[in-house]
Amino acid sequence: MSTPWLRPLSCLAAAAVAVASCAAPESTSAPQGGGTAVEVAATAGSPSASELRAAYSKPTAEWPAATIDDGVTFVELGLVEKHVAPKDDAGKARIELGKALFFDPRLSGTGQMACASCHDADLAWADGRTTSFGHAFKQLRRNAPSIQNAALLPRLFWDGRASSLEDQALMVFENADEMHNNAAAIQQVVAQSKGYRERFAVAFGDDAVTLPRILSAIAAFEDTVRSDGSSAFDKFLAGDHAAMSDEAITGLHLFRTKARCANCHNGPLLTDHSFHDLGLSYYGRELEDLGRYRVTNEPSDVGKFKTPSLRNVTRTAPYMHNGLFDLEGVVNMYSAGMATLRRKAGQENDPLFPTKSPLLKKLDLTKDEKRAVIAFLESLEERRRRMRPPELPALGDAR
Ligand code: HEC
Ligand code: HEC
Repeated sequence: MSTPWLRPLSCLAAAAVAVASCAAPESTSAPQGGGTAVEVAATAGSPSASELRAAYSKPTAEWPAATIDDGVTFVELGLVEKHVAPKDDAGKARIELGKALFFDPRLSGTGQMACASCHDADLAWADGRTTSFGHAFKQLRRNAPSIQNAALLPRLFWDGRASSLEDQALMVFENADEMHNNAAAIQQVVAQSKGYRERFAVAFGDDAVTLPRILSAIAAFEDTVRSDGSSAFDKFLAGDHAAMSDEAITGLHLFRTKARCANCHNGPLLTDHSFHDLGLSYYGRELEDLGRYRVTNEPSDVGKFKTPSLRNVTRTAPYMHNGLFDLEGVVNMYSAGMATLRRKAGQENDPLFPTKSPLLKKLDLTKDEKRAVIAFLESLEERRRRMRPPELPALGDAR
């Protein structure tokens, strides 16, 4: 794809100063975005807010080309697929059952910790903490992501070690530092509840309480927790072109071009579903987290973490796998190209020494540009959704 739009536009912006490069034929090495467009914009002056608004008010297929490096697969931003509510009673009952199980602390070893303890609807389904408190108030090592849109992710957890919501839930149930329980005990607790068994009967056709059914009900509930189209960005995409401010549209353009974010944060969820090292592994230090390497044992995966979705991101501070950053800090770090770890004495030939992603470059964003990128991220904020915790069935009253 070439850059059908940006070059003429930036030339237009620079018409008064007649920039030579505007007349020159375009050369694009990047397969899916206008690699040269940014340079042209930089020499020719940036497009004005009203030009950007006009350009982004077109269908996404006609948007200015994104600045994407060779070898990167870019998917255009867009609306999140809506959850299709089941029409049958069993499907509806599975969701309601999953909701009860998600909110039920009695599924944990202590009887005190529910999925909802760390994925709180009032906190956009995260927990607002740097890293979560686990079993017996142990401070866990990673920040709790939101479960919103998690059903649409091919790999879960910061290191991608689970590939379905069911696997993911079982790992948390059985983790000694988290829900501190085991499959047999969970099944037993639920099976001893008359109320739960009645719900299993409607949801699954008979009242057998099995672990796969428990996990699939929880997954069915999580599947309903999706972006709902209420963000300014989604309204804009849906045709309400007054929904985004000029600053947010400028930020969207920067996000896709000069700021290079769309190399990794792309598609409707603003993630490539892949793993990258941003230089945050704290390799060889107290806070060390080797990320994806722990799952694959590939030296090239040391320090890589899953690209998180940025939907509703302003509601889920603090950020990154370690929860150590606020949004301004994150944008400042990207602008500086992220920190580069230096090999210390003894690490010269260390095959595990992490390598920062080559997609990160020093951006030198101006103050206004950083503010615009943040304004775009703010435009992804969705309306607050409160969820009353469901009434939980009594335990120990079955047969
Ligand atoms: C003690 C706090 C805590 C509890 C309880 C908890 N989680 Fe989590 N959850 C986390 C943390 C922390 C992570 C990230 C861990 C990691 O990546 O290693 C996570 C990750 C997830 C993810 C992956 C999201 C993504 O973007 O990859 C999902 C889905 C999820 N949890 C659902 C659940 C469900 C379902 C339960 C109940 C069975 C549950 N959680 C219980 C803290 C918790
Ligand atoms: C090389 C791929 C890559 C690029 C380019 C990139 N990101 Fe990221 N982003 C990631 C990964 C991977 C993480 C998680 C890293 C971690 O936790 O160690 C992340 C995390 C984030 C977070 C934290 C989200 C959360 O829930 O914790 C924000 C916000 C963010 N990126 C915004 C941006 C913006 C804005 C840009 C452009 C200025 C950008 N990213 C460019 C890959 C990238």
